[in-house]
Amino acid sequence: MTRTIYVDGKYLPYSQAGVHVEDRGFQFGDAVYEVCEIRSGAIIDERRHLERLERSLNELDMPMRMSHASFGRVIRETIRRNRVRNGFVYIQVSRGAAPRDFLFSGPNVGQTVVVLARALSRATNEAIALKGISVITTPEQRWARVDIKTVMLLASSIAKEKAKAVGAKEAWFVGDDGMVTEGASSNAWIVTMDGELITRPADGHILKGITRTVAMEVAENRGLKLVERAFTVDEAKKAREAFVTSASAGVLPVIQIDGTVIGNGAPGSTATELRQLFHTFAEATL
Ligand code: PDD
Repeated sequence: MTRTIYVDGKYLPYSQAGVHVEDRGFQFGDAVYEVCEIRSGAIIDERRHLERLERSLNELDMPMRMSHASFGRVIRETIRRNRVRNGFVYIQVSRGAAPRDFLFSGPNVGQTVVVLARALSRATNEAIALKGISVITTPEQRWARVDIKTVMLLASSIAKEKAKAVGAKEAWFVGDDGMVTEGASSNAWIVTMDGELITRPADGHILKGITRTVAMEVAENRGLKLVERAFTVDEAKKAREAFVTSASAGVLPVIQIDGTVIGNGAPGSTATELRQLFHTFAEATL
């Protein structure tokens, strides 16, 4: 249960935590966010997530008004107040509240910072990973700057609902060129029959996932052949393995794509190994 949420300098009880109705995050989706895993009380890859938050802000001409150290203090205090040992912390920065106006370069636009922490069951996540998940594919309908982690997640929400309706847990977006971009909230990977690990390069059509970056380091360390290139849905369906990566789920095996069974229908050995080794490579800070 989330008890306390940080909103602009104050730790507020859950029921009282709110932002102004004219917040630009609410009216224009003018906000960016990050999600970090909390594992055994430690924050996973905090440095990289804060660096990406800063990049997202910069790309939208918003200054990062709080230092990384201040964010670190607020994140820790929010985790402490909510007594989260395993779960995630969510950080959101919007361009603040102002009378509704498409233009944001006026003098009155501020910033709204929200941090919340929530517990998740590690056992439930492990059980899902042991079984593997199904994904569906759906046309890419997001805006063209998906490299920025904005809260404009409507296309992703709709895609995930579509997945849920057929018992799948994730949706993979597919561009007009027939190439998979990424999951609605994860990066997509396959392992070919030749044992090559394939994931799309950070070419502007995906979010450069932190879990993806760390999983690449694990793969390199294990001597796996990694190729950053786009792949088609057809190639994915014929792959030996498929999996997704995200901060909230880690390395998560995929056993079905649009109802087609991948490999032998069980989580693949590469995905399983990357999942098990992930936390020995990720940075954990208390
Ligand atoms: N998802 N691609 C998209 C579109 C995402 O929303 C996310 C993260 C990723 C993976 O990035 P990372 O490994 O840094 O979490 C890729 C949310 C935050 C999540 O489910 O964790």
